[in-house]
Amino acid sequence: MASLFFFFFCQLLLGLGRSFVAGAGQVPAMFVFGDSLVDPGNNNQLLTMAKANFRPHGIDFPEGPTGRFCNGGTVVTKLQCNNTRTKSFEYTPEAFTNLLIQQFGRQLKDLYDLGARKFLIVNISPIGCIPSQLALQGSDKGACVESVNQMASVYNRKLKEMVDQYNELLKESTFLYWDVFSFAFNVIENYANYGFKNQNTACCGGGEWNGRVLCLPVFSPCQNRSEYVFWDPFHPTDAFNVIMSKEAYQGNLQASFPRNVQQLVES
Ligand SMILES: *[C@@H]1O[C@H](CO)[C@@H](O)[C@H](O)[C@H]1NC(C)=O
Ligand SMILES: *[C@@H]1O[C@H](CO)[C@@H](O)[C@H](O)[C@H]1NC(C)=O
Repeated sequence: MASLFFFFFCQLLLGLGRSFVAGAGQVPAMFVFGDSLVDPGNNNQLLTMAKANFRPHGIDFPEGPTGRFCNGGTVVTKLQCNNTRTKSFEYTPEAFTNLLIQQFGRQLKDLYDLGARKFLIVNISPIGCIPSQLALQGSDKGACVESVNQMASVYNRKLKEMVDQYNELLKESTFLYWDVFSFAFNVIENYANYGFKNQNTACCGGGEWNGRVLCLPVFSPCQNRSEYVFWDPFHPTDAFNVIMSKEAYQGNLQASFPRNVQQLVES
């Protein structure tokens, strides 16, 4: 279970300037690197227990269960352009953060050298707020676990520094930084304003906050998925992903141009 937790690191999504994958739209292709938050079912063929290709996953998805950890589509499904296991326990949070940033930076540079020109770099979401953490850390009122969010913030600060640096150094590319942490935290804190009725219990799962046990075929999911921020102990619902993708595509992710994914792909 701990390994899943760290899968949340290093989400990124990018479009290559010239490419080959079919898809009539604003960009010729979109390559997505990430964890189970964005997995469309690549895991199905892998020897892993992290699978979601069974009901009730996909209960609100046209294709049914696909391997997406959600009742519907992931944020990538929504964005589709209109168009590691880690050894974290061997490191202090600070050292582990540095290691992640270093490796991630190297991989970004490799992609740049291969010709990638438009990057959307997504920071870590407020993982102290997911039902799994509420259960693990014994949150009594369902409030976010501050210490876990704090760790995410340390990483995010360094990530932002790296993105600024890369925008300076690698002039031919644009790195758009998406502060998912702040936006998602705001949605969770003000969930009622976004039409949710529940921001801390998973729609499908077991134990405290439905955060202890993964969503399994034996569980009945909540009746109305649109009222929940979290689908299972780790992943948000389709409704939440709709809000997030709109923000990415049309929102104000940063003060300078390009401000959002639409401007990034049209630039
Ligand atoms: C589900 O919840 C949403 C948000 O509260 C509401 O708009 C919708 O009508 C509900 N759907 C059903 C079938 O109750
Ligand atoms: C995709 O484009 C359409 C039309 O411009 C827009 O209504 C929609 O919100 C866009 N998708 C996202 C994820 O914002």
